[in-house]
Amino acid sequence: MAAMTGTGKVVLVTGASSGIGEATARRLAADGHRVYLGARRTDRLEELAGQITAESGTAAYQRLDVTSAEDVRAFVAAARERFGRVDVMVNNAGVMPLSPLEALKVDEWDRMLDVNVRGVLYGIAAALPVMTEQGGGHIVNTASVGAYEVSHSAAVYCATKFAVRAISEGLRQESAGDIRVSLISPGVTESELADSISDESAREAMKTYRSVAIPASAIADAIAYAIGQPAEVDVNEIVVRPAASAQ
Ligand SMILES: NC(=O)c1ccc[n+]([C@@H]2O[C@H](COP(=O)([O-])OP(=O)(O)OC[C@H]3O[C@@H](n4cnc5c(N)ncnc54)[C@H](OP(=O)(O)O)[C@@H]3O)[C@@H](O)[C@H]2O)c1
Repeated sequence: MAAMTGTGKVVLVTGASSGIGEATARRLAADGHRVYLGARRTDRLEELAGQITAESGTAAYQRLDVTSAEDVRAFVAAARERFGRVDVMVNNAGVMPLSPLEALKVDEWDRMLDVNVRGVLYGIAAALPVMTEQGGGHIVNTASVGAYEVSHSAAVYCATKFAVRAISEGLRQESAGDIRVSLISPGVTESELADSISDESAREAMKTYRSVAIPASAIADAIAYAIGQPAEVDVNEIVVRPAASAQ
């Protein structure tokens, strides 16, 4: 890891305790950015921040539940307090308990809406005023190939990701000139995402679908690319799929 402590941007990553968020934190810290990590599993965050720091990176963390607007506000405020500014907010936390609609898993629908949609909105609500005050910033939202197409057992999950795409495009239009907005849409990627599937049929179907998964570092590379562009260049959408994936 590059020994660039204290340089680079201040980047906040939600859902940094595993998968894409964790890989993104590692990659951005290696690029010399200061990373502020949020998720509910603070044991994971503590270990990750420790590893980044041991490799000459700069990282700190805070417990975060993105379904609470107050929590997200406190997370952004703490990062600003710690590092003096907020350059990039990566709204990455997400859940994917897939099931056919007829299974009526209403609690899981609510959880997806709360984490995947409200969590992103709360991230924007917390970071935008700080970025506007600073005169600029960058919102990066993790969507999915499910933001572009609907697949079986994924109606609600895809709805949340369509929503993230719509919110990102709306924000881009409204904040042109000040705030850069990037939507990063992974195809199937190695992570713990499928662990939350409680529906037996959806869980079985996922086994074949996920067999071609690409490493989470591939998505981290895309996020690093968007962040690394010159200030006048706004990378709006990147879709990263396994080469072997037809969907
Ligand atoms: N992996 C894929 O194939 C794939 C494909 C398309 C899109 N995505 C998207 O990529 C993003 C990252 O997912 P992943 O694949 O890396 O899965 P993951 O390994 O399960 O990571 C999800 C992250 O979200 C966090 N999270 C969940 N609920 C949260 C809450 N209420 N508050 C704060 N953090 C919360 C988890 O942390 P805690 O549990 O510790 O809170 C974890 O760090 C998600 O938005 C997902 O929809 C993934």
